[in-house]
Amino acid sequence: MKRYFDAENGNRIHWDELAEVHAESYDYRELIKGGHVMDSIQTGEVGEVRNKSLLHLQCHIGTDTLSWARLGANVTGVDISPVSLKVARRLAKKADLTARFIESSIYDLPDKLDGSFDIVYTSIGVLCWLSDLSAWAGIIRRYLKPGGFFYLMESHPFLWVFDDETEGLTVRYPYFHREAPNEWPADYPDYSDSDYAVKTPSWEWQWTIGDILNALVENDLKIDFFHEHNVIPWKALPSMIKGDNGFWRLPEEMDKLPLMFSLRAH
Ligand SMILES: C[S@@+](CC[C@H](N)C(=O)[O-])C[C@H]1O[C@@H](n2cnc3c(N)ncnc32)[C@H](O)[C@@H]1O
Repeated sequence: MKRYFDAENGNRIHWDELAEVHAESYDYRELIKGGHVMDSIQTGEVGEVRNKSLLHLQCHIGTDTLSWARLGANVTGVDISPVSLKVARRLAKKADLTARFIESSIYDLPDKLDGSFDIVYTSIGVLCWLSDLSAWAGIIRRYLKPGGFFYLMESHPFLWVFDDETEGLTVRYPYFHREAPNEWPADYPDYSDSDYAVKTPSWEWQWTIGDILNALVENDLKIDFFHEHNVIPWKALPSMIKGDNGFWRLPEEMDKLPLMFSLRAH
């Protein structure tokens, strides 16, 4: 298995820093008021979760985990960042919801969690932190009950070839995977609070659509659907505009590209 412990540890420090920022900047008012913050694409595609057991990989501060709890699932969230989980537990209390949160790198999860789940779920901003997608898919398979399903919604890897510092669509980064991580130095605006300058570096991997599908297929997961979307939940490129539904998209003259994908597998 390809594991980069220095990068993993650096990313944990990075996410510990951002968890406190996101505790202020994520909009989770609906959770506190008795509602949820899950978007309509995911509620539609995941379907009824009431009384189902749901394992959320890379749950960050738990806003999505707790949304599934609000919709009736019995939830377990996993994340490598202890500060993220501290915020998630605090939020669960405020929202009066029951959830179990486990601190672990997903690769180490079998040492910390037994059992299996009706739904294994993960979404948005997750795959770029992983050095080994085959190991990731093996973990998903390990935790799926027979008859259960895996659901993923993620930014489209094609989006990441474009320059994120200039207007328009200029190809700047490679589409294809490289084994060594790409180091992002600190001092850029956080994606959810543009007034906050990120202080810690991070290490990321690009994965192609082929890499993602093959990792699942090679671990015996069968794809039920694969959808591509022209919207994304945050302003990933400077030219993007916000629509009425809360999602961001490219302006009309550039609106010809996939920005996000979702898939279900069993
Ligand atoms: C963008 S966030 C999660 C996305 C979630 N949709 C959100 O916005 O709240 C990415 C999360 O992945 C976690 N993470 C990164 N590497 C991990 C690993 N190896 N194992 C478990 N969690 C990891 C980080 O700590 C962070 O909380």
